[in-house]
Amino acid sequence: MKSYKIALIPGDGIGTAVTEATWEVLGKAARGAGFSLEGTSFPWSCDFYEKTGLMMPADGIETLRGYDAILLGAVGWPKRVPDSVSLHGLLLPIRKAFVQYANIRPHRLLPGVEGPLRASAFDILCIRENTEGEYSGAGGRVHNGTADEVAVETAIFTRKGVERILRFGFEQARKRRGKLASVTKSNAQKYSMVFWDEITALVAAEYPDVEVANYHIDAMAARMVMAPESLDVVVASNLFGDILTDLGAAIQGGLGYAASANINPERNAPSMFEPVHGSAPDIAHLGIANPIAAIWSGAMMLEHLGEPAAAAAVISAIEAATARGIGTKPGEHKTNEITSAVLAALG
Ligand code: IPM
Ligand code: MN
Repeated sequence: MKSYKIALIPGDGIGTAVTEATWEVLGKAARGAGFSLEGTSFPWSCDFYEKTGLMMPADGIETLRGYDAILLGAVGWPKRVPDSVSLHGLLLPIRKAFVQYANIRPHRLLPGVEGPLRASAFDILCIRENTEGEYSGAGGRVHNGTADEVAVETAIFTRKGVERILRFGFEQARKRRGKLASVTKSNAQKYSMVFWDEITALVAAEYPDVEVANYHIDAMAARMVMAPESLDVVVASNLFGDILTDLGAAIQGGLGYAASANINPERNAPSMFEPVHGSAPDIAHLGIANPIAAIWSGAMMLEHLGEPAAAAAVISAIEAATARGIGTKPGEHKTNEITSAVLAALG
């Protein structure tokens, strides 16, 4: 029987509960499709930091490298560890070290979920550059603590980085409805964003079958609210994509439904799958976290592993649960009730 080695990083807060729920659902889907998932759980989190002074061991990246994929819950507990420390100690280094340059985030309404918009027939795939741009971590501070203090944080855009994310976006558009929206702010940012627009035009020439449009980030934010059904694939830089995908989560009913995949398209290192939501420490022990975003991310993992039938079964099971009104309203159902409904629908 085919078997996949999965690294589980439940992380902090509700990350633990949603990872557990996801693992149960994926296990059942795997059995149904005739393969197995062999999981190893790593306790890397803010708890771990308080005990060891590190978010993950020094050889953490090398440990993860041996797995077929990584399933992550959520990272961060800002009252205990500053976010800038916890995220730069675990989540962001994994995305960079494993060159998971494509962060894919689907935004559509699940059956039974009422979004805040009148529009309901949208199906957007946001593709966020995930290794450079505004998240490069290049910068510094001088004259610390004085009135003359200066902070500089440089966004880095490389030809290689921009080209590959756009090419990835065009490939996705080809598999979908053939439309790609490239998001910049090239009217104001005259170096990096003009560079991005130029590369969009160059790559677009290789995909004459894909219809391309360029938007500024502000206009795209408005469009996602006013005319989301006009969008198919949306490609954006790291920070712009981060912001747009929280907006995408909002229009699909909330962060409880927003799934994501951090993909290494070349497959020379593991990819990582995680819900868009954070660790929500305030509700962590109430048992009310919606596991749907995490389970959907798990389905994206099965798809990436080359198990599309199992992935589709998980998505159908999520849809069957929400169509019955399970997990469609915040706090109405407990994490375990939603999980049970998805498991039951898996048959
Ligand atoms: C996300 C999150 C992260 C990001 C944070 C936690 C660093 O918001 O995955 O969208 O900005 O990438
Ligand atoms: Mn975010």
